[in-house]
Amino acid sequence: METKTTLIPVGGGKGGVGKSLTAANLAAALAGLGKRTILLDLDLGGSNLYSYLGLPNSNPGIGDYLMTKEGTLADYQVDTAYPGLSYIPGDGRTPFMANLSYAHKIKLAREIRRLEADYLIVDIGAGTSFNTIDYFSLAPLGMLLTTPDTPSLMNMLAFLKSFLLRNIIARIKHIPQTEKLIRTIQRQTVSSALLTVDMIRKRLQEISPLAAREADLIIQTYRPRVVFNLADEAEDILVARPVESAALKQLSLRIDWFGLLFHDSQVRRSVRQRKLLLRDQQDCLYAEGIRQLAQQVIDSWDRQSEMSFELLQASTHSFIQRRRSTQPTGF
Ligand SMILES: Nc1ncnc2c1ncn2[C@@H]1O[C@H](COP(=O)(O)OP(=O)(O)OP(=O)(O)O)[C@@H](O)[C@H]1O
Ligand SMILES: [Mg+2]
Repeated sequence: METKTTLIPVGGGKGGVGKSLTAANLAAALAGLGKRTILLDLDLGGSNLYSYLGLPNSNPGIGDYLMTKEGTLADYQVDTAYPGLSYIPGDGRTPFMANLSYAHKIKLAREIRRLEADYLIVDIGAGTSFNTIDYFSLAPLGMLLTTPDTPSLMNMLAFLKSFLLRNIIARIKHIPQTEKLIRTIQRQTVSSALLTVDMIRKRLQEISPLAAREADLIIQTYRPRVVFNLADEAEDILVARPVESAALKQLSLRIDWFGLLFHDSQVRRSVRQRKLLLRDQQDCLYAEGIRQLAQQVIDSWDRQSEMSFELLQASTHSFIQRRRSTQPTGF
């Protein structure tokens, strides 16, 4: 029987915001909840999931797969210390894979879609390179990690803008009248606010209603799932409001506020010990947040919410209340 695999790319735009750490811990938490999970390292050129998993960097991975003509990507799965969780390394033994050829990218995407598990968690590198955006586009929905700080939020918005424009272009480029507009879009810098997505849409409507409809398929349906990491307090969540307005104004895009993870000094200790934070660390804020996030993924990854901000605010408050009653000194 064929399994329906839920593919979750974990991206974010900014470096060092906790994408790999969270991808690894989330994958292990999903496995701990009985879900068969594969963790895939697609940060080619900067792969480091092996370290979070406490594994050597000597297993062959995606790079090696692409260099061979035989086998499937699934053959490269490595067992981990976490039952139910397997891992596929990135570029460990075959470095310099950051700039894959088009043919390699197509081959890789096809193989990724053939992997069978309940969840496939994909760690993606920082930045807004075309490869990064294409990996994030592998699934109908993606998870974006950001800290509540302005530089990280700005990078997330820049990432979303590049993502939207690249996907819009991919959908309309076969329609001849759109050539000039596509060139104008491509000349824009990511930080430029001159050309909003709404303006692009209106222009498309004038030149080709068919192209406008194609673009709408992305603009109106895509809702990134955003997770705050490295929060210091529950109020950090309030930064979501101005970001929401900016995303709506410049990108015509709605955001689904999906989770919040706190800064916890135990994280660095576990990273140094090359272990993930799991059930045994009852007192760790981050680990508890990850458990909640895994449950949220299982309950509502595919479900769109019109009240995501309010729901996240409420769940963060009950998280803190629960902790205060069980760990009186823990906050
Ligand atoms: N919630 C947290 N509490 C404490 N430390 C954290 C937390 N999240 C991340 N860190 C620290 O930040 C480090 C970097 O995280 P991570 O490797 O996941 O970043 P990244 O976004 O994948 O970076 P890159 O873009 O370079 O791939 C972790 O090794 C950890 O020490
Ligand atoms: Mg990383």
